[in-house]
Amino acid sequence: MDRIRIVGGNKLNGVIPISGAKNAALPLMIASLLTDDTLTLENVPHLADVEQLIRILGNHGADISVNGRRERQGESYARTIHFTCRNIVDTTAPYELVSKMRASFWVIGPLLAREGKARVSLPGGCAIGTRPVDLFIEGLKALSANIEIDGGYVNATAPAGGLIGARYTFPKVSVGATHVLMMAATLANGTTVLGNAAREPEVVDLANCLNAMGAKITGQGTSTITIEGVRSLSGARHRVLPDRIETGTYAMAVAMTGGDVILEDTDMALLDTALEAIRRAGAEITETNSGIRIVRNGAGIKPVDIVTDPFPGFPTDLQAQFMGLMTMAKGTSHITETIFENRFMHVQELARLGAKISLSGQTAKIEGVSRLKGAPVMATDLRASVSLVIAGLAAEGETMVSRVYHLDRGFERLEEKLTRCGAHVERVSD
Ligand code: EPZ
Repeated sequence: MDRIRIVGGNKLNGVIPISGAKNAALPLMIASLLTDDTLTLENVPHLADVEQLIRILGNHGADISVNGRRERQGESYARTIHFTCRNIVDTTAPYELVSKMRASFWVIGPLLAREGKARVSLPGGCAIGTRPVDLFIEGLKALSANIEIDGGYVNATAPAGGLIGARYTFPKVSVGATHVLMMAATLANGTTVLGNAAREPEVVDLANCLNAMGAKITGQGTSTITIEGVRSLSGARHRVLPDRIETGTYAMAVAMTGGDVILEDTDMALLDTALEAIRRAGAEITETNSGIRIVRNGAGIKPVDIVTDPFPGFPTDLQAQFMGLMTMAKGTSHITETIFENRFMHVQELARLGAKISLSGQTAKIEGVSRLKGAPVMATDLRASVSLVIAGLAAEGETMVSRVYHLDRGFERLEEKLTRCGAHVERVSD
C-alpha cells in the first residue's frame, strides 16, 4: 500500500494548476443518465472517485470514452470524457458499488426520472458521520415517487405518467439531495420549487449543465430553485468548474509553510469565506490574470476562529486543513464543525506531530505551538489526510502518511504539484 513521505521545512514557491472539481464532476457525470444523447464533460479530474463512478455508470448502460490530454508537462490531466447512455440496461445500483462511494447513491434521481424506477443500495455509514438519506426519500416522495426500503435497498417507482412536480422545502441543507431532486425534477410533469436548497457552486454548475441539456432551471445559487419539467433532455458540452477545496487546501499549505504561489485556473469567488480566514491568519491573497496569488513572508500565523456552514459559509471540506494551519498559530483558535458530527479524526493524528488540540463537543480548541515535529501518521478520510500532508510540510523532519488511497480519491497529482513548488514529498510503494 502506498504511503506519502514528506520532509518538512521547505517554503512553497511556484505555480500550482488547479484541477476540475471532484464534487462537481461526480453529479455532472450522473446527469448523463438523464439523456440518450452524448454529454461531454471537459476538465474532469483524474481521481479514484471518478474512475469508480465510470464503472457504476457503465453498469447502468453508459458508453464512456476518455480523451486524455496531458497538460503542462505532466502536472495535471484535464480530461474530456464523453458519456452516452442510449438505453438504461439496469436500474439497480448494487451494494458492492454504492458502498464504495456515497455519491453513487445519487443515480436514484436520473434512473427514477428516466425509467420510472430505481433500486439503489443504501450507502451505509461513513467515517465522517452517519450521513442518512431521509432528505432524498422525503423529497422524491414529494414528487409522487413511491418508496420502500427493503433488504438494504431503496426501491423507488414513479407514477405511470412519470414524476409530478411539487413544492418541497428541505428541512436541512443538503448538497446531494439538492442535486438529486434537481435532476429528478428536470423530467417531471409540471414545475418543482425546491426551498432551502444548497447554494454550493457545484449545485450551480450542475444546474447550468442541465440547462445546456435543455432543462428549465432558475434560481440556482439561491436557496429557492425552480425547475420546469421538460419531456426530454439532449446532449451538451460542459466544462467542470475549478476545485475550490483543492484551491483552499494549497492556499492553506502556503500560509503554513510560507512562500509565494500562484494557484492557476481557479476563481476567488468560489471560496470567499475560506480565503478571508486565510488572510486573517496572515497571508496576502490577490487576484491575478491566471488565478490567485498567495504570499506569506516573515510574520507568523495568527489565530482565527471559524465555524463550518453550508455555502457561502466556511466549507466543512476545508475544516481539517484549516486546523492544520492553526496548529502553528501564535495563540489559541477555535474550530466548530456544524455539518458532520464526526469530522475530527485528524485531531489525534495532528497531535502525533506535536499539535495541542482539545475537543469539546463539536468545537476544537487549538493552542498554537512554535514547531511541529514529523512522525508516522494515518490518513482517515480524504480531507483529514491532506491536513496531515499540510502539517507535514511545515513540520521538522520526516512525516510518513499511510493509507493514502484516501488522498487519491480527491487530490489529483498532489505530490507532483507540491514538489514543483519546492516541497519534499514523495510516494513510497511498499
Ligand atoms: C457533499 O456531500 C460533498 N460530497 C461532501 O464532500 C461535503 O462535505 C458535503 O457535501 C457538505 O458540503 C460530494 O459532493 C460528492 P450533504 P453530501 O448532504 O451531499 C445531512 C468530500 O470530502 N443529511 O450536504 O453527502 C448529512 O448527514 C466530501 O469531498 C441528512 O441528514 O453532504 C450532513 O450532516 C465529504 N439527511 C448534512 O446533511 C440526508 O438525507 C449535509 O450533508 C442527507 C444529508
